[in-house]
Amino acid sequence: MPHRLTAILSLSAAPARGETAIEELLPRIAAESLERAVRNRGRAELARWKLHGVELELELTSTEVRPHQALLAIQRRLQEALGKSDKVGVRSLRVPSYTLEFPVEKAPERPVGLPIPHHLTVEHKVGRLELRDLSEEAIRDNWPDRAVSLVEEKLRRQSYEGKEQYWTLLGESPRREMRAAEDPTEAMLARAWVRSGPTKGKWFLGPRAAHLLKVMEKIARTEVLDPLGFSEVVQPHHDSFDILLRTGHLEGVPGEFYYVTEPKTRDPAAWERFTDLVKITRRVPTEELAALVGPPAAVSCYAQCPTIYWWLSGRTLAEESLPLKVYDRTAISNRYESGGRHGLERVDEFHRIEPVYVGTKEQLLELRERLRERYAHVFNDLLELEWRTAWVTPFYMQQSGELAEEESGERVRGTIDFEAYLPYRGTREKSEWLEFQNLSIVGDKYTKAFTIKAQRGELWSGCSGIGLERWLTAFLAQKGLDEAGWPEGFQRVALPLPSEPRFL
Ligand code: SER
Ligand code: ZN
Repeated sequence: MPHRLTAILSLSAAPARGETAIEELLPRIAAESLERAVRNRGRAELARWKLHGVELELELTSTEVRPHQALLAIQRRLQEALGKSDKVGVRSLRVPSYTLEFPVEKAPERPVGLPIPHHLTVEHKVGRLELRDLSEEAIRDNWPDRAVSLVEEKLRRQSYEGKEQYWTLLGESPRREMRAAEDPTEAMLARAWVRSGPTKGKWFLGPRAAHLLKVMEKIARTEVLDPLGFSEVVQPHHDSFDILLRTGHLEGVPGEFYYVTEPKTRDPAAWERFTDLVKITRRVPTEELAALVGPPAAVSCYAQCPTIYWWLSGRTLAEESLPLKVYDRTAISNRYESGGRHGLERVDEFHRIEPVYVGTKEQLLELRERLRERYAHVFNDLLELEWRTAWVTPFYMQQSGELAEEESGERVRGTIDFEAYLPYRGTREKSEWLEFQNLSIVGDKYTKAFTIKAQRGELWSGCSGIGLERWLTAFLAQKGLDEAGWPEGFQRVALPLPSEPRFL
């Protein structure tokens, strides 16, 4: 695929010897630099050049390897050589136009946009992307390759749209008798156990609901995490942009975060007009406020594992610490759900324990089996739920916006969802079951992204999301709010219930 790049190098002065100075150096330097970048993969050449005063315009063409890869070397070597021969420096460079070609399987159904100046055409299975006005920094940071990858990704996404996420049933629990048919959130609202929160998608849990949520947490710890040797860690509640860039969340789900901003200052004088307005109007002067806080600089926790990986970043784990098994239950997850909210099971703020494990592939496969056994014990013996497991599109692909074309046969890396039947939603066959838990092996995606190393060999990681509101909703949806209908094992942990305040 042919490529064509026009660059302008700004010289510190026009060479006294004019084009002769350039003629002596540029063709040789360009040929050598291009050859180095291309290395037998097609051809590349300096197609033409022209000196206009202090501006040296040159055009590079190539058949395969993209020629911008040689541009910085040409600039650097010309700078050295021209400095020696004519005492002229190369100040900077820019690329007014760069046309790149790449194969395209299918013509786009809709226009494809890019956030930088460009012109894109697709004809006869060839995409031709012209990038305009690229700065030296853009070349240095390799925007051209990223722009082509992004166009290719957007084209793939168009042909992928509408395809279902994958889902394969792995196992099912025995069928259970349902003790309830109501939506548990409605039932709790009716008894004033919960109140819809003061801000969107959040709930206030009164003593009973809170107690039950904490019972779920206790069960998860005593029946799953403690027996398997997990240790608790406490992580900060805000996720930095740097972390989310490394995990891919920032490009995958930017519309699902609650962004955190900081005040520009805490000097009361700067806030005086704001406070005065509040005192006079008893309203929030939002425009005034917007001017007093900075742009978002972090997000409120979206998932806990990214910050746990950050904790381990750049570190080498001793053999004896593997597999590393930790969990966080401190950070509370916030997700902007928009239209998807429903009751306690789909909320903008939820409490989750997130176990994270790092080890060799074999260690993690073994641990996954142990976790499955312990979870099965909780759901079968204590909560007596009707539930099933499914192999699904991995959470880390969904959250980073990667396309999961089809599942691979081996089922080593990926996500297992645990789903519970919610009778209030309809029949077992037709209704949507609630994903109340997941269990994943991520492979080396995050250990690589955060440079987490072992003394020898490759390290993998994984995590599991224990959604406490989801456990509670699944349980109450099947067993009801009346404690007499609860399984004995659960009664032993959960009773007595705290009393609720009586509201008159
Ligand atoms: N990090 C995983 C997820 O977001 C587990 O909680 O689903
Ligand atoms: Zn995770």
